[in-house]
Amino acid sequence: MKVIVANDYEEMSQKAFEIMADVVKNKPDAVLGLATGTTPLGLYGRMIKDCKANGTSYKNIKTVNLDEYAGLDGNNKNSYASFMKENLFNGLDIDLKNTHIENGSASDAEKECERYNKVLCGLKQDIQLLGLGSNGHIAFNEPGTPFGAEVHIVNLAESTIRDNSRLFDNKKDVPVSAYTMGPKNIMQAKKILVLASGANKADAVYGAVKGEISESLPASVLQLHPDCIMIVDKEAAARL
Ligand code: F6R
Repeated sequence: MKVIVANDYEEMSQKAFEIMADVVKNKPDAVLGLATGTTPLGLYGRMIKDCKANGTSYKNIKTVNLDEYAGLDGNNKNSYASFMKENLFNGLDIDLKNTHIENGSASDAEKECERYNKVLCGLKQDIQLLGLGSNGHIAFNEPGTPFGAEVHIVNLAESTIRDNSRLFDNKKDVPVSAYTMGPKNIMQAKKILVLASGANKADAVYGAVKGEISESLPASVLQLHPDCIMIVDKEAAARL
């Protein structure tokens, strides 16, 4: 795994943007694996600016998102489908038909996992963007998830529910389960780009980069990927 330490969040986002823009420019019909959360916002802002200012086109780009809250319809303002429209897709010339995410309001969870797994088998990510949970999760693969797992539904860890609650008006509305790509779906990507910012990610960054490769720290599986780049700010790199 290649690790780049940036001075701050802005520098981390700029370096991530340069890598992402390279993929889009070299392959106008690339498949981008995308993430939600606060970490990628600086990157997404730069992608929008670049599309508007320099005409970088996303017309033929396809996207697959990591995860979605179970029980939330894609139109719910707290769904990850809404997050992606608001923070990225609405600012690009992307065709929404080419954007894929789990259906949080599917009536049959098992069938939904099968459906999304098939989507992913047909759309291998040219690049997969990841944030990092403070407990070392990637997507919503919490500690203990088998590395061989594919798309599945998970009960979120207490720490994840707590971390996510800041984005909800009311704590009791924070979903307790979610659909997620499994580590196996993530590892199929040609290239993986992991971002982490802030002191609360320092332990997870250390575990992912220098820790034992173990299912108890899901991000440690990334050490096995042939082309994984992690960009962290100084605070997140504190233990390296
Ligand atoms: C989001 C996701 C999560 C986040 C992680 C970090 O789609 O899969 O794994 O990347 O929880 O979240 P932030 O960026 O909000 O710190």
